[in-house]
Amino acid sequence: MNMEQPLLAETARYAMSTAGIVATMVICVVIVCSKLYNRPHLPKGPGYLELINTFIALGKGTHMHEVVRGFNKVYGDVFTLAMGQTSIVMVSSKDGLKEGMLTKGLDFADRPNLYAANLNYGGDRNNGIFISDYNTKCKLKRKLFLSALRLRGEMQVVLEQKILQETLNVLQSFKQQPKVGFDPKEIVMCSVMNITFHILFNKHYTPDDKEFLTIMHNVDTRFRAYVTLLYLDLFPVLRLLPHKNRKTIEDCNNWLLELVQRFIDEHRSTLEDVTKPRDVIDKVLIEQEEDNDGQLLSDKDLQWSFVNVITAGFDTTGLTTLWGLALLAKNPNIQNKLQSELRTSFKEDENIRWQDRKRCPYLEATVLEIQRCSNISTFAPNRARKNTTIQGHNIPEGVNVFFCLWSYHLDPRYWERPMEFDPTRFLDPAGEVFRQETVITFGLGPRLCPGESLARMELLMFFGNVFKNLKVTFAENSKNFDFTPAKNSLPLSPKSYHICANY
Ligand code: HEM
Repeated sequence: MNMEQPLLAETARYAMSTAGIVATMVICVVIVCSKLYNRPHLPKGPGYLELINTFIALGKGTHMHEVVRGFNKVYGDVFTLAMGQTSIVMVSSKDGLKEGMLTKGLDFADRPNLYAANLNYGGDRNNGIFISDYNTKCKLKRKLFLSALRLRGEMQVVLEQKILQETLNVLQSFKQQPKVGFDPKEIVMCSVMNITFHILFNKHYTPDDKEFLTIMHNVDTRFRAYVTLLYLDLFPVLRLLPHKNRKTIEDCNNWLLELVQRFIDEHRSTLEDVTKPRDVIDKVLIEQEEDNDGQLLSDKDLQWSFVNVITAGFDTTGLTTLWGLALLAKNPNIQNKLQSELRTSFKEDENIRWQDRKRCPYLEATVLEIQRCSNISTFAPNRARKNTTIQGHNIPEGVNVFFCLWSYHLDPRYWERPMEFDPTRFLDPAGEVFRQETVITFGLGPRLCPGESLARMELLMFFGNVFKNLKVTFAENSKNFDFTPAKNSLPLSPKSYHICANY
């Protein structure tokens, strides 16, 4: 997914890297002006000088999660970043995440109201799912997609078959790559996009299909254009200037919306048996009819929701897969154990499916550890819906509260040797998988990622079927691969690398 989390501080990093000194001066003006605003009493946090240092560090490439970790040491697990008119309360501890996302999940279930993110959804926060507040429509859309993407009954069989087909295609592509090494990014990203379209719309593309290439182009261009506008949240006055990327976003959206509407029309006219949905769109259309007779959710709602799901499901799963390949290339012993489990438990011509996971606990543990270590979603961005508290601090209605998923997954208080890649941390002495619920890369509570089951299925089947057949090593030019995430990446992406696939 494009984790469309327009993090204000990431925004600042962008602004700093592009506008340098000028931005620093503007920030000083913002700071002075912000003294004029009457901010509610919030948890303590860095002062203006520290914030300026932070902007400079971000501009030089420090990642936002590292900044948060630094502030945690000084201000504790709950602190406030106050920038201009906006304040964000950052929460990092396990208890804080549980309280804010689960126990008081409804208190914090709204999303921040941010300009650039809104532009990405045609300027209307009711479009799509991710940027919507937790209102009736948002709940309804979540319900439809949760049910359609849930791995149960007839849908599990449909989804599993499509994922398997795409995974076997990737395996075939890996086999055809040069022995000296290749960059797996394009193959993996194309495959994830294809899985997404196959599952959502029963559409299978070859990688060179013109429509497929245009989809990839529009999703990518829309996201890149959006990132260039993040600074408008920090410097609202600049919104008055013309920005050509607003039009770029609009064009990409219009193209994607038309495409989705075409699929909706095609599916409506060809759906014969409501007990046999062919894909997610059939399931959504059936439930739309059953639930509310089309009264509450129009086709426009469905169009935007699908655009959201396409973009949300693509980057996230693809990047986790790329992190996983790099982590396994770095850890040949773990690959050996994984392959040995897979080859012992499955026949040579047998493919690994979701329901087989009990037969391969080491695989399931490896996927959990890949999710924990790749840790691509830095934050879950939320907003208080009423006056409430978190970890004893008062939080007034409307204040942004970001739950720091990244900090939690690498915190030595909760994980032994957190920087080590070790799947056995998820295995009990009997070799069974446990502590699954402690990996919360999909968030928790009312805004939990609706694609969780699907993504977990994709990851398990990818790593199972690929590593049963081959092993990967870093190519000569990537032997010293640096695992710090790529600069300015959002969600966190690995830097590019080359691997060799060995059989
Ligand atoms: C490894 C893959 C993925 C990761 C790590 C991931 C992570 C997340 C996270 C952290 C959130 C925010 C949760 C919160 O605020 O509590 C989210 C929301 C969302 N994700 Fe995912 N996701 C993944 C895959 C997918 C897939 C495959 C889909 C759809 C096919 C999807 C669709 C969505 C949507 C629509 C939302 C917005 C939900 C809302 O705001 O209510 N994601 N995801």
